[in-house]
Amino acid sequence: MTENRAYVQNLAQEYIEAGKPTEWFEQLYSQANNDDTVIPWADMKPNHNLVQWLDDHNIQGQGKTALTIGCGLGDDAEELCKRGFKVTAFDISPSAIEWCKNRFYKSTVEYIVADLLNPPAKWNHTFDFVLESYTLQSLPTSLSSQAISLIADFLAPEGILLIICRGRNIEDALEKVPYPLTKDQVMKFVDAGLSLIQFEDYLDQEKASVVRRFRATFQK
Ligand SMILES: C[S@@+](CC[C@H](N)C(=O)[O-])C[C@H]1O[C@@H](n2cnc3c(N)ncnc32)[C@H](O)[C@@H]1O
Repeated sequence: MTENRAYVQNLAQEYIEAGKPTEWFEQLYSQANNDDTVIPWADMKPNHNLVQWLDDHNIQGQGKTALTIGCGLGDDAEELCKRGFKVTAFDISPSAIEWCKNRFYKSTVEYIVADLLNPPAKWNHTFDFVLESYTLQSLPTSLSSQAISLIADFLAPEGILLIICRGRNIEDALEKVPYPLTKDQVMKFVDAGLSLIQFEDYLDQEKASVVRRFRATFQK
């Protein structure tokens, strides 16, 4: 896994330096050829930081819409669907979306290939719940302001946004992907028109290591 993580970081770096920061994902998913052990973030189960938050807040999705950003292999989208939401889940990688459709062939989740940085206009002001986990941190920081403002626009009035990401202090060096976010970066959602409901900063077990995690909730 460590070896694979290094391979993935180098692949990302190569594409970022070539000015194509979102193209390595498709390369990785298509090369994986349905072997999930090749995808460092693929746990093949819903993110426990999401599940715990949904449980703690007794979230019921019946009659509500949800959007999962950069849905990867689909486990979080399926969890939201299980909780009653009508879910749209998108990823920039056609191979990841194909993988989701094959894994969850009976699912009612609508899996779509789309680019967060150029999303369908019909998603503006549409969703009651938006989940962003680990996509912002996989993009170079130069793209984060644009991505944050687009994510905020997905919310319907009073809609809720849940962000789950790695956290860092401003003085911490940024090396290779993932690029942990600072609290100030996450708080840019307020500049984008949202109100902060809750901000959590904690240590989280991620596979074999412990990482600093931010989990924040905003409302339109
Ligand atoms: C680190 S992975 C996290 C996947 C998933 N959210 C999870 O937690 O397992 C980031 C995901 O975002 C997708 N992604 C990256 N840039 C994107 C973009 N501009 N638009 C849509 N998806 C994107 C990648 O293909 C990848 O599946």
